[in-house]
Amino acid sequence: MPNNPSGRQSIIAANWKMNKTLEEAGQFADNLLNRCPDPGTIEAVIAAPFTALSTLRSRLRATPFRLAAQDLFWEPAGAYTGEISAAMLVDVGCSHVIIGHSERRQGFGETDAMADKKVSAALQAGLHPIVCIGETLDERQAGQTFDVLKRQIQNSLASCSADVMPRIVLGYEPLWAIGTGVSATPQQAQEAHSYLRELLAQRWGTEAAEAVRVQYGGSVNPDSIAALMAEEDIDGALVGGASLDVDSFIQLLTYS
Ligand code: 13P
Repeated sequence: MPNNPSGRQSIIAANWKMNKTLEEAGQFADNLLNRCPDPGTIEAVIAAPFTALSTLRSRLRATPFRLAAQDLFWEPAGAYTGEISAAMLVDVGCSHVIIGHSERRQGFGETDAMADKKVSAALQAGLHPIVCIGETLDERQAGQTFDVLKRQIQNSLASCSADVMPRIVLGYEPLWAIGTGVSATPQQAQEAHSYLRELLAQRWGTEAAEAVRVQYGGSVNPDSIAALMAEEDIDGALVGGASLDVDSFIQLLTYS
């Protein structure tokens, strides 16, 4: 299975969102390990609801599969009812955490400034942040895509220094492509990814920019993944709906 032509390790992540009971999560993991015990050179990540993390950890602990949470809070501990810290995520076996997903930005008022604090907390705890950005349909149609991406990158990664950049994963997820069945074309995604890499290079230098992996997310499925992954600056996929079924997830991991 290929890495990206650039040499960056490909990363394919399932974002289960608010789906799966403990039993369903456990069955998924068992079936996955039976049918696809090793994703080869691809870094395969499952971002599960908080409630399923412990169950998944016990099944995936001694396997190449990695575990992610879908959010965290930036404070280390204390009176923050309902919140989960970075250290708690490490404790439950996570190596990655999604930050600033558009569903949190749109539905829960999350801002770039909040994403920045979450990125810092995640890095400090040793987690790999998967930082999500992307434009709405209105913004794209108004020709504002690059401006929006620039603002999101500058503000969501405001506290990052160049040395931490290789640990950052970006998720380019245009909002008009999420859950709609209308994926960005490989060319549209590549155009955005290459612009993102340019922005990263301007701010953190070429070496750091080349090390950051940029995933595409938005209606990725087993039929569309190969063409997306063939693009120079597309280093992986962040997959919602098509990651919920184990057969479909395996097809995504073995796309080539
Ligand atoms: P879909 O794959 O269901 O469009 O979701 C994409 C997404 O939001 C992944 O984070």
